[in-house]
Amino acid sequence: MKKYYITTPLYYVNAAPHLGHAYTTIAADVLARHKRAQGAPVHLLTGTDEHGQKIEEAAKAAGKHTIDFCDMTSAKFRELWKHLDITYDDYIRTTEKRHEDKVSELFALLIKKGDIYKGTYQGWYCVSDETFFTETEAPEDDKGRRLCPNAECRKPLQRVEEESWFFKLSKYQEPLLKHYAAHPDFLAPSHRASEILRFVEGGLQDLSVSRQKVKWGIPVPGDQSHTIYVWFDALINYWSATAGTDDLWPADVHIVGKEIYRFHAVIWPAMLMAAGLPLPKQVFAHGWWTAEGKKMSKSSGNFVDPYEITREYGTDVFRFFLLRQMQFGNDGDFSAQALRLRYNSELVDGLSNLLYRIETMVDSYLDGRMPVKGSPSDDFHLTNVAPRAPEISAKIDALDFHGALEVIWEVIRSLNERVAKTEPFKLAKTDKVKCELVLFDMIHSLRIVAGWIEPFMPRKAAEMHLQLGVRQFPEALTADDVLTGANSHPGRIQKGPPLFMRKK
Ligand code: MSP
Repeated sequence: MKKYYITTPLYYVNAAPHLGHAYTTIAADVLARHKRAQGAPVHLLTGTDEHGQKIEEAAKAAGKHTIDFCDMTSAKFRELWKHLDITYDDYIRTTEKRHEDKVSELFALLIKKGDIYKGTYQGWYCVSDETFFTETEAPEDDKGRRLCPNAECRKPLQRVEEESWFFKLSKYQEPLLKHYAAHPDFLAPSHRASEILRFVEGGLQDLSVSRQKVKWGIPVPGDQSHTIYVWFDALINYWSATAGTDDLWPADVHIVGKEIYRFHAVIWPAMLMAAGLPLPKQVFAHGWWTAEGKKMSKSSGNFVDPYEITREYGTDVFRFFLLRQMQFGNDGDFSAQALRLRYNSELVDGLSNLLYRIETMVDSYLDGRMPVKGSPSDDFHLTNVAPRAPEISAKIDALDFHGALEVIWEVIRSLNERVAKTEPFKLAKTDKVKCELVLFDMIHSLRIVAGWIEPFMPRKAAEMHLQLGVRQFPEALTADDVLTGANSHPGRIQKGPPLFMRKK
């Protein structure tokens, strides 16, 4: 059976991971956990991009052998993914033999097919972006300089004039346009699709795919004086990592940042067409974070270190905040204040206090005994909570994480209102039977909520389930499990400390 195959970009190993890298990887993990909870076999691939001039230069500056430097930084990414509870199934490095062999194989195949040919490259190159630019794409500014046209970069370009192998990208303009038209979900979200359409409609030029002066790379088959262009090499990872399997390719979704969308939405599908391989189902470009209103970059020193946040708030809050704060696909700003506000209002006041209050009431009024369903029953969890499950699920399927969390918090707000309206603390004195019904209903509602938040906050969801007397293994409960009573056991509430403590 074909697995649901999700990929993240392969991150460059020139510097340690920051919030931006964590963002994409967390999103991919939330999608993977959600799909698994639905019972789908899932495969999540991530890894590191290790060849090319930029890495070679960074290793030199650090005074290390290039591969030792790559080992060191690649390990930092892996450590962070462990820390953030990323459930990846495979981790690929472009310096691994399994990848290098497949790149050489594909390159040789495209030479044979005539889609890669030899010529001379004249133009401009940005080392930081590892991207070629033509004279017209990168005109001189009023000071006579040529700067990288990528607004996020703007570094000086290098003049390159050398013999090069070229990929016949121009040949794929029409086939790409046809593919986009026939597969409306291929380019997502839709506002990014129009950028790509405009770009491809404007005409495609053949792409230089080898470098003579760069030694740190995979040699061109049969022409050892050239190495393969790092992007051509790295993109192939999504396919090379599936070698030897028949249940992965094509990928279901490549999740990438908007700045590398063209590589994934134009060059990569053209490469696959040339190789006669099926195309991924979707390429999704998310937006960019700034930090405290300013561009985030290692070189300027303005970046968010994930460990700094998780030390203070824990990993679940970091995961939650990134997907809650901005729409996946748009840009947004990360600030200490926004994090604290959302944490206090939604996690402390909204969720944690509700859970704690209900458990405290069960403790005091029922001596901690699990409330049982009475007759007539109080059915808010059936009428107003469980029916929201398909909506939440559909939103996560569409990578609308923000929208899914919005619905979950709408339900949490309605539960808080319900406690205020039914006043179980008063019923405890006047109508014990009714009081137990309300508490039964609340416990069941919260069990459903715990299942919903699991992909986002796996640790807190497990804590909630434990406190609410649910056996959680092997997976978080779905709303249906809660309703049928699967995995829940009579007994006692395990009232714990509050899930989240207020921050000043
Ligand atoms: N190595 C290439 C990708 C090759 S994929 C075959 C690369 N690497 S990177 O280390 O620069 O990582 C880029 C990715 O990190 C972005 O696509 C995005 O997923 C994430 N982010 C880096 N900075 C970011 C922000 N400021 N905001 C959001 N995500 C960003 O490009």
